[in-house]
Amino acid sequence: MITVRTVAEARAWALARRAAGTSVALVPTMGALHAGHLSLLRHARRASGAVVLSVFVNPTQFGPGEDFARYPRDPERDGALAAEAGADLFFAPSVEEMYPGGTEVMVDVGRLGAVWEGAARPGHFRGVATVVAKLLHATMPDVAVFGQKDAQQVVVVRHLVAALLWPVRILCAPTVRAEDGLALSSRNAYLEAGERAAAPALAAAIAAGAAAVAAGERRPTAVEAVVAEALAREPRLRPDYVAAVDAARLERPPLLQGRVLLLAAARAGRTRLLDNACLEVGPDACRAALP
Ligand code: PAF
Repeated sequence: MITVRTVAEARAWALARRAAGTSVALVPTMGALHAGHLSLLRHARRASGAVVLSVFVNPTQFGPGEDFARYPRDPERDGALAAEAGADLFFAPSVEEMYPGGTEVMVDVGRLGAVWEGAARPGHFRGVATVVAKLLHATMPDVAVFGQKDAQQVVVVRHLVAALLWPVRILCAPTVRAEDGLALSSRNAYLEAGERAAAPALAAAIAAGAAAVAAGERRPTAVEAVVAEALAREPRLRPDYVAAVDAARLERPPLLQGRVLLLAAARAGRTRLLDNACLEVGPDACRAALP
């Protein structure tokens, strides 16, 4: 594995691979790698001949008072894990390298970036869309792989590349979970023992909502109520939002049908937890599926 820190080096590496007829996959991360990231790398490896893993803690996607300063950073461990997992290029740029002109030019993704997680964290998806655009320009991939845990991020990135006519395929890899169901996230490291014990209740509540859909419930607000009631049984979690929405526009339809996302966010202490389920809702059947 080669490590580079500049856009010029990353782009030259990717262009050389493409010129040699090898497709390139990007796995963008903010580091503090865990089994979820390693699973994204495996998906990237299956999709492409050459794999870039980027590690960049992007300041523009953190709001004031959020955890940018204390976000876990361990570049040496990340490099070792990425090499072991088969990444070919480790791209770890500085803030100056990624934002040479400051933050005057940013990418606005409109309504999809302003609802749900975007409403809870104003400006977050503007920061995400901007840095993803920069990472795509820097590494010129054919494919970029994101995790389903951040389902709204996948929807926003797909919207971004479609709107900007970008010839890159956005793959969504399934959420990797701990044995008790908690979706893996670098932020789980913040959880104190009691918070960690309570955290799987978020996935369990979403599963209760999915079960209601499987049992025939099609009213989004009724499904949301099932999730909210299940969440209320764990007092150590403070729910933020619950949404049963169509998976493309993230809007609550009159009745659930087709591809549906059950999104939920809650706080355990100071830590925000996010999770979701993606369901294929037919007239008689419901099965979990990737977006
Ligand atoms: O999902 C993340 O880790 C980040 O939002 C991403 C996509 C790397 C952009 O900073």
